Amino acid sequence: MRDQLQALEKQALQAVGAATSLEELNSLRVRYLGKKGELTAILRGMAQLPGEERPIIGQLANELRDRLEQGLADKIASLAAAAKQAQLAAEEIDITLPGKAFPVGHQHLITRTLEEIQNIFLGLGFNVVTGPEVETDYYNFEALNVPADHPARDMQDSFYFGPELLLRTHTSPMQVRTMEQLRPKPVRIIAAGRVYRRDDDATHSPMFHQVEGLAVDANITLADLKGVLLAFAQAIFGAERQIRLRPSFFPFTEPSAEVDISCFLCGGAGCSLCKGSGWLEILGSGMVHPRVLQLSGYDPEQVSGFAFGMGVERIAMLKYGLDDLRHLFTNDMRFLRQF
Ligand code: PHE
Repeated sequence: MRDQLQALEKQALQAVGAATSLEELNSLRVRYLGKKGELTAILRGMAQLPGEERPIIGQLANELRDRLEQGLADKIASLAAAAKQAQLAAEEIDITLPGKAFPVGHQHLITRTLEEIQNIFLGLGFNVVTGPEVETDYYNFEALNVPADHPARDMQDSFYFGPELLLRTHTSPMQVRTMEQLRPKPVRIIAAGRVYRRDDDATHSPMFHQVEGLAVDANITLADLKGVLLAFAQAIFGAERQIRLRPSFFPFTEPSAEVDISCFLCGGAGCSLCKGSGWLEILGSGMVHPRVLQLSGYDPEQVSGFAFGMGVERIAMLKYGLDDLRHLFTNDMRFLRQF
């Protein structure tokens, strides 16, 4: 019987060692250790053994069972480890591969120019305000001293929603809206945003951006206007820039002036950019008309003010040397990526 047990152990351990799957191990366990298994079959013969042999054989059988169980457990563990290894090898991630590049965008040239302009005026003590793009006839024209049927309306034609509402043609309505809000306090604001006109060519687009400036206080003079605009021109176009004021006309300023900067390309000597004049026109300005102050609730005897308005696209075109304003709106990435 000992021989039988030894033979069984040898055979069983060999089979376990050769097994390649959990199912195989399970059926080996049933085959050797199960209730109807081979070990049980051998032990059935115990009855024929002499009495003193039985406990010895019983102990041998128990030890054999333990060793087989251990062998099975070891094999299960080693199969599991091998499976894990195989999985790890199959799922290996090569962390040295280059990653997927995400396209990184950047500010549009108009936004960038607008923020540049705003930051300069913030530094000069102005606050930034915004207002509606759909404006009333009153704020866009009437309150700015441009009555209905006045020929000055021809300077700016717009897109109308009926007789009372239109897309604002400039940011100047924000002069009046801000003064109505702040009166009787002093005012130092810039108003930036989109404006609309019935224009369309290489230097005019039906939609464009303006920055409006307004300062109202006791004793504000044309010298203050000139000082602020000189500081602005030098901040955005270089410390050597000079400005000049040319007489002009706007219904809401008196006197009115176009402001030129000395050409940054030729330094004022005359070149193709400034068409030989040495000067580049950058904005319209003037002293706030007394009637506009009055309509906005200020007493023109007590306070005075200056105002200016500039086109953001025009500043960007000059600063970055663009030949056609429409590049800014056609969203061609080859153009936009340059800035
Ligand atoms: N609103 C004027 C325009 O769009 C510019 C301007 C603003 C002129 C403020 C004088 C004062 O042409």
